[in-house]
Parts: sequence; structure tokens; C-alpha cells
Amino acid sequence: ISLKSYNTFGIDAKAQFFIEINSLEDLKAGLQLDGYPNKFVLSGGSNMLITDDINALVMHINLKGKEVIEESDDNVFLKIMAGENWHQMVLWTLDNGYGGLENMSLIPGNTGTAPIQNIGAYGVELKDNFVSCEAMHIETQTLKTFSKEDCQFGYRDSFFKNEGKGKYIITSVTFQLSKNNHKKNTSYGAIETELEKMGILNPTIKDISNAVIAIRQSKLPDPAVLGNSGSFFKNPVISIEEYNKFIALHPEAPSYKITDESFKIPAGWLIEQCGFKGKRFGDAGIHKNQALVLVNHGTATGQEILNLAYRIIDEVKKKFGISISPEVNIIK
Ligand code: EPU
Repeated sequence: ISLKSYNTFGIDAKAQFFIEINSLEDLKAGLQLDGYPNKFVLSGGSNMLITDDINALVMHINLKGKEVIEESDDNVFLKIMAGENWHQMVLWTLDNGYGGLENMSLIPGNTGTAPIQNIGAYGVELKDNFVSCEAMHIETQTLKTFSKEDCQFGYRDSFFKNEGKGKYIITSVTFQLSKNNHKKNTSYGAIETELEKMGILNPTIKDISNAVIAIRQSKLPDPAVLGNSGSFFKNPVISIEEYNKFIALHPEAPSYKITDESFKIPAGWLIEQCGFKGKRFGDAGIHKNQALVLVNHGTATGQEILNLAYRIIDEVKKKFGISISPEVNIIK
């Protein structure tokens, strides 16, 4: 079958075999199936670039369920199954008055894949509200609980992208959210500006979510309209020595101090400076409002998008001496 509607880039690659996973039993049984060359786990398909047909048994994770597992006067613990759409889940928490995920509104993808790259936006990361997750060990088909510490979260990084890579399938995530005295984070410049525009002085968590949605809609393309995987690259982190050299040459460049020794430079700025913003090469392109996002204007192949990515990496390296690397998973 075609995977076009199963990946937000809208790449028309084919899966040799395909099954839906609707329960933990399905998942166990799927992993135990013999006679397939390989098995490939597919979730929301929002952070991958498929560069060729997938000659494997594709298992589409469709585990559903949202449950309050513990509650006090101030906090609630929610267990969310992996196949729940992230944004729909965030809206549901807000409708229930639970705070914590509002800054991460409108991020594409499913809940179960959020921990893999510790998704984040507008000053908040998944790890800030994360308690634990459950994952099935692929080899033994047993469930294991991972605490926050076990997950080793970093910037767009976790255990599941390193030692745990290819070994586990996350089946559910448990969050701790606030019921009152919400810890609101509006320090990210764009949120403040958006709330001002909306004429809101004391924002509710729902107002913050609405502001984030408005900002994202103005900058980021809707995958249903224009295929994309959000930020294609990570923002590079450079040492203070590199930073001093860089900023002397480009005093106008935006940057964020990470530690006394390291700085983050927005890759979107670097790419825009190389003249790529809004450019199009066949159906592979760079988004007109955010140079960090590569887009599929229709029938681009994954390989064409990947070639464009390599070209951008080269140009940025040539112009600034800074190496940028993909944030999305490249499926070869
Ligand atoms: N910028 C440019 N040109 C561009 C894009 C950005 O000059 O084409 C500059 C902006 O003017 C600003 C700076 O770069 O000074 C940062 O831009 P922005 O606030 O749009 O955020 P970002 O660093 O480009 C990151 C995340 C996004 C997240 C936003 C907001 C990464 C790889 N990306 O982007 O995450 O939504 O911050 O928190 O960290 C994603 O991961 O898919 C994603 C969209």
C-alpha cells in the first residue's frame, strides 16, 4: 500500500506489508510474526523522511486511550496511549483545565513518539511535564517502564535515539499536569507579542494555547495542505570560541546562550542567509515563512528532499563554517 497519507511529508513510498496495531496484544503478536524480512514501526509519521519503498512489514501504531490515573487537589496524572494524536490530546487536557502542555499546541504527530525526540516549542519541552513512559521491548515483547531519568532527555534527544534506538516501542506516556496555580510560560518573545495583539493581559492556559496556534499557523505550513516535517534541522550548538568568531563576523545574527561555554544559533537564520528561504527545486522546497522547514510541493520524492537537505548543509558549512544536521529521521 502507499504510505502517502501516513507521513506528513506526503511522500508516495510503498510498504510491502502493512498491519494496524490496535492493542498491546496486536503489538506482541505483530512482533512475533515470522516470515517477514524486516519490521518497521510507524506512528504519526510526522518526523520522518521516507527516501525509498519500505520492504518490510509496516506496523502502524494505533493504540488509543486517555486516562486519569491519579489526582490530588493541585495535580493530575494522565496516562495517554501512544496512538493518540498529540494536538487533540493537548486540546483535551486544556478543555479539562489541566495546565502544562499549552505551549506545545499544534505540534504534529502522536503522543507515543513525543518522548523519542523530547519535542518542544516556545520555551517548554516534553520533559517538563513527563513522569514516565511504557515501552515494549522488541526482542522479548515485554513491557518496561522508563522514568524521566531513564529517558535521558536532551535537546531533541533521548535514550530512544541513542542506546535504546530500534529496541523499544513506546506504548503509553504518563504526564503530570496542574489543576490550578498553572506555571505559565510566556517568556518566549513571540508569545508575548501575540498575546498583546490579542489584547490579553492575564492569559489563561487556553489563551496561551491560542497564541501558540496563531504563531505556528503564521509560520509553519499545515501538513494537510503542504507536506512537511516541521523543523528539518536542529539548531546547532557551538562552543564559545566558535561563537566569538562567528558573532564578530555576523553581529546581527540571533543566538541563545545555553551555558557559559556554548551557544545555540537558529539554523533558520543561517539557511535564510544562504538565500534558500522560499526557494523551490522541482517539488522540493524551503518554506517561505520559516527556512528551517523543508516542504513537498506535491510529488517530490524523499530522495529529492534529502538531496536538497544535503545541499543546504553544504552551503551553510561553506558560508558560516557551522555544521547543521537533520532533526527528522531519514528512512533509507
Ligand atoms: N529565523 C530566521 N529565518 C527563518 C527562520 C528563523 O531568521 O527563516 C530566526 C528568527 O527570526 C528568530 C530565530 O531564527 O530570531 C528563531 O526562530 P523561531 O522562533 O521560528 O524558532 P526556531 O529556532 O527556528 C525552534 C524549534 C521549533 C519550535 C520553535 C519555537 C528546533 C529545531 N525548532 O525553531 O520546533 O516550534 O523553536 O519554539 O528547535 C520542530 O521541531 O519541528 C519545530 C517546529
